[in-house]
Amino acid sequence: MRIPLLDLREQYRTLAEPIQAAIDAVFRSGRFILGPQVEAFEQAICTYCDVPHAVGVSSGTDALLALLMALGIGQGDAVITTAYTFFATAGSIARAGAKPLFVDIDPITYNIRPSAIEEYIEKDCQAGSNGELKTRGGEKLRAIIPVHLFGLCCDMDEIHQISEHYQLDVVEDAAQGIGAEYLFGGRTAKAGAMGEAGFFSFYPSKNLGAAGDAGMIICRDAELAKELRILRDQGMEPRYHHRVIGGNFRLDEIQAAILAVKLPHLESWSAARRAAADFYGAEFARTGLAKKIALPADPYRDHGLTNHHIYHQYVIRTAMRDAVREHLVRRGIETAIYYPLGLHEQKCFSYLGYEKGDFPETERATRETLALPMYPELTREAQRYVVDAIAEFFG
Ligand SMILES: Cc1ncc(COP(=O)(O)O)c(C=O)c1O
Repeated sequence: MRIPLLDLREQYRTLAEPIQAAIDAVFRSGRFILGPQVEAFEQAICTYCDVPHAVGVSSGTDALLALLMALGIGQGDAVITTAYTFFATAGSIARAGAKPLFVDIDPITYNIRPSAIEEYIEKDCQAGSNGELKTRGGEKLRAIIPVHLFGLCCDMDEIHQISEHYQLDVVEDAAQGIGAEYLFGGRTAKAGAMGEAGFFSFYPSKNLGAAGDAGMIICRDAELAKELRILRDQGMEPRYHHRVIGGNFRLDEIQAAILAVKLPHLESWSAARRAAADFYGAEFARTGLAKKIALPADPYRDHGLTNHHIYHQYVIRTAMRDAVREHLVRRGIETAIYYPLGLHEQKCFSYLGYEKGDFPETERATRETLALPMYPELTREAQRYVVDAIAEFFG
């Protein structure tokens, strides 16, 4: 049996007709960039996330870059984020001209560990005469970027307390977390809607995927949204008048039209991913493997939320990761490693001066985690085959 990590063709099979009609409508309109489709999709995201503003952009990477630019974060500033995330989180900080500061993760959730943020600030930052926090390198500490990795929200209550205490902005990297929920200050909130701003990626493999690159920023502040709209279109307002230097971060009409067709299905897709995760859990328990490998944590399961986890990825952990993976390849099962290196180990960030060993939990995760096939249409038969193959490995 061949089991892919993800199969996007299954999803298209059920939505081919409305997607083709949406694409046709865009061609017939003759408008391809930043038009009514983008506006309608932005509105739909506002409703879905219960926020007043959404700004469609060209990718998740550009969403973060535009956000940092809009918040005035750049040269001379520093931003805290996790060492265990996709490159783009830190890449955008660096491209904005600021310094990425990494902290370690919680080994159970793989998300940034709030106490590690606090420890870093207490140990390595000092308050200047004007109350600004300065790092040892002299940069002004401006923001925290928590990443809701694999579709599970970070501990946002803790992060909020820290950001309030130290007067830092919170920008949520919800690239992998659209629809994930968290009981924020006792109220249900969606990923991306708990900080100054948040953003999503609609890269095709994401839970809500476009037919190419696309992204979205959400926020509550009207001025910030206005600035983002200007920045995404070369900093232009009115036409051919440039007060600020922006970029080409615009969202295409075709992508917005396709995403608008898909969005109403997102809740049922998230539920199907959760059901698949539960089934994996039951199968691992049946085979006695739950004691040999760590299954994904679901810490908000009893918090009365619908989307306590949206399983963008289903990630298990074992010290035998590489051998398990090789065995699964032989059985026709595709898996992935997110991520093989901590960001502090990436060559391009060597100028930051980190060393191997700086973030032990991140480094352990890079050696031990393995993403198994996960998508809403994954069959129980395929899942049983995956678990049986892992059981076979452990004998
Ligand atoms: C955690 C994280 N941040 C940022 C991004 C960047 O998004 P995009 O690929 O749309 O630029 C991604 C997506 O791959 C991601 O997984």
